[in-house]
Amino acid sequence: MRSLTIRGGLLALPALSGTGEVRIQAGDLQITDGTITQLGLVSKDVGEIVDARGLLVMPGVIDPQVHFREPGATHKEDLASGSRACAAGGVTAFLEMPNTNPTTTTLETMAWKKARAAETSLVDYGFFIGATPDNLEVLNTVEQVCGIKVFMGSSTGTLLISEQQDLERIFAHGSRLIAVHAEDEARLLERKAQFGPDAKVSQHSDIRDAETAVLATLRALLLSEKHNRRLHILHMTTKDEAELLRTRGKGNGRVSCEVCPQHLVLHAPEVYERLGTRGQMNPPIRSAEHSAGLWAAFNSGLIDCIATDHAPHTLDEKAKPYGQAPSGMPGVETSLAVMLDAAHRGLTKPERVVHHMTQGPADCYRIQRKGRLELGFDGDIALVDLKKTRRIEDGKIRSKCGWNPFEGVPLTGWPVATFVRGAAVYRDGELIEGPKAQAIVFEG
Ligand code: DOR
Repeated sequence: MRSLTIRGGLLALPALSGTGEVRIQAGDLQITDGTITQLGLVSKDVGEIVDARGLLVMPGVIDPQVHFREPGATHKEDLASGSRACAAGGVTAFLEMPNTNPTTTTLETMAWKKARAAETSLVDYGFFIGATPDNLEVLNTVEQVCGIKVFMGSSTGTLLISEQQDLERIFAHGSRLIAVHAEDEARLLERKAQFGPDAKVSQHSDIRDAETAVLATLRALLLSEKHNRRLHILHMTTKDEAELLRTRGKGNGRVSCEVCPQHLVLHAPEVYERLGTRGQMNPPIRSAEHSAGLWAAFNSGLIDCIATDHAPHTLDEKAKPYGQAPSGMPGVETSLAVMLDAAHRGLTKPERVVHHMTQGPADCYRIQRKGRLELGFDGDIALVDLKKTRRIEDGKIRSKCGWNPFEGVPLTGWPVATFVRGAAVYRDGELIEGPKAQAIVFEG
């Protein structure tokens, strides 16, 4: 029997229904054979004892949108390196995207990825199946995936579904959640042509403008309404999309949405002055007005969860001129700190950050036994020092890409230890090789 007793911390207990904020209470926690077996006052020390006085004891973060590049581009990340970056960031489980090479769009490529993750991942894992115009049967027969990923606008990789008849077919058949990258391909192409081949990175957010996102989100909402289909809006970036969701309603839980930390705290056009093409991602960083709208939506409970869209590219790739440089930025090892720092600065509350990075994604994707400090749940834990301030340094980044958009920025609120099912995988700045990671279990 493998046991761990975490003593004297501040437990982040599950939110009361509808509040969207964990409840912080002093207490102890015990994990036996990977499962939380005692919560509150633990009378007897069993197994390893961890002193958590002064620390927040929260469920491990679930990052519901990452790109780990394996197979096909393992020079910039793989499941081993990406999952170790997760552990360093307090992330104990991730959901990974299908725009690898080959794409995760067949039963075979999905089986390969799961087997690879079982061999090399340090934290628990789940995968999206990617939609193509002709893999409808796979979308509905593949087992144990978090959802179907639809790129409505083109981004990194080859996946794209922009024709109405293809979208209708996918929404009409099956019941699995559909997660959309909501940018309208027709408008995107039109605007790219308008801005021409000499466009600069500072124009990235104008080319892929707010209207491009709103059009696609509205289209996805209408499809979801028409076919009564579960829909998740990935990395929402505009106040207008938030307003759309608010006014059209979220269909009694039929529709959910997420935002990325970088869309909340970075702004265009400043981001391009500081980071150039490193600040380029899809959908793009937007104006301060949009991020203020996203914060309001986040704090009102409209937004269900936080995701990083961790999209590593090497510095050499990012140094190419605009038009050739790939879009995307890494985030798994800093997302919790970026969000807790925002709470420290008064933009939100730590209780809300914790909820939206743990139970939020677990609820969206119907993940079993994760995302909450609750008896019988997996002992996935992040110990967090809310007062610790550390400056992000590219040289210390664990992602293979070796850089981070928040380089040089001091952030307050850092994970100091991470446990996956009761086994330490990160402590005091060091990674620890734990027992084998496991596949996330999805309900239904
Ligand atoms: O900026 C992005 N990069 N957005 C995406 O949707 C894909 C991602 C990537 O895979 O690089």
